[in-house]
Amino acid sequence: MNASQYLIVGAGGGIGAALVARILASEPSLPPEPSSSLATDNAACFVHATWHRRKPELEHPQLRWHQLDVTDDSQIANLASELQADMQQAPLHWLVNCVGVLHHETLQPEKNLRAVKAAAISELIDINCTPSLLLAKHFAPHLKQHKAAVFATVSAKVGSIEDNRLGGWYSYRMSKAALNMALKTLSIEWRRTHPGVCVAALHPGTTATGLSEPFQHNVPSDQLFSSAKTADYLYRLMSNLEPSASGRFWAFDGEELPW
Ligand SMILES: NC(=O)c1ccc[n+]([C@@H]2O[C@H](COP(=O)([O-])OP(=O)(O)OC[C@H]3O[C@@H](n4cnc5c(N)ncnc54)[C@H](OP(=O)(O)O)[C@@H]3O)[C@@H](O)[C@H]2O)c1
Repeated sequence: MNASQYLIVGAGGGIGAALVARILASEPSLPPEPSSSLATDNAACFVHATWHRRKPELEHPQLRWHQLDVTDDSQIANLASELQADMQQAPLHWLVNCVGVLHHETLQPEKNLRAVKAAAISELIDINCTPSLLLAKHFAPHLKQHKAAVFATVSAKVGSIEDNRLGGWYSYRMSKAALNMALKTLSIEWRRTHPGVCVAALHPGTTATGLSEPFQHNVPSDQLFSSAKTADYLYRLMSNLEPSASGRFWAFDGEELPW
């Protein structure tokens, strides 16, 4: 069997970093004397992972870091062409986008309509939605070479229109709902052009990362996962995704969520 490659985007974050560690922990290793090429007859995996503002410390012989701002189309195009030769030898098995923003120093989720600002809506759509389509555009040829590839983005249950019972958080909800629509639309196009790829939107569950930190006080402890636990759930979920299940929205435990 040939080696598989993984691309984890946003691996400087809590969930992305834990997913990289989870893949490296469970996939076969390179042989003791690795050849220079991945096109060997072993089943070793290789993980490409991206960071944005601060390079993570994790090092591993089967891991290569790349700096990437996902809002920059040309940076994604450059990464895709840099990895092209590599992936002709060993196909891209999973591309998982773990990037997301909910708040920062000058941006907080809106409690009500009075707090809505156009700039915040645009910023969150630019980061939480559009990059998945740019990644799909530039990595489409890489994914096409695998017989059962996964193209997944970590979305959020609060992006489900049908499940919205509490209101609030306009810009984050809108950015994730737009992301979900982008992924569903992509899955329809790729059903024809990339029938071997499963496109998936993933809800990770509430996970103890910087993103959820200000909102964790109301979450019962058994419903607040460590990043490692969430990564384990997502790893198992994606390992079971077949191309025939493309175009769906999954919770971490395998429950299918309404769009
Ligand atoms: N944690 C939860 O409870 C929860 C629940 C539901 C959904 N989610 C979703 O899960 C995903 C992962 O979130 P997390 O909890 O792991 O949050 P996190 O630890 O804050 O990670 C988010 C990552 O996104 C990166 N990022 C932001 N802007 C970027 C850009 N322009 N280019 C490249 N990377 C960028 C950040 O890098 P820098 O810091 O370097 O900018 C950070 O590494 C997000 O999509 C989030 O919406 C999380």
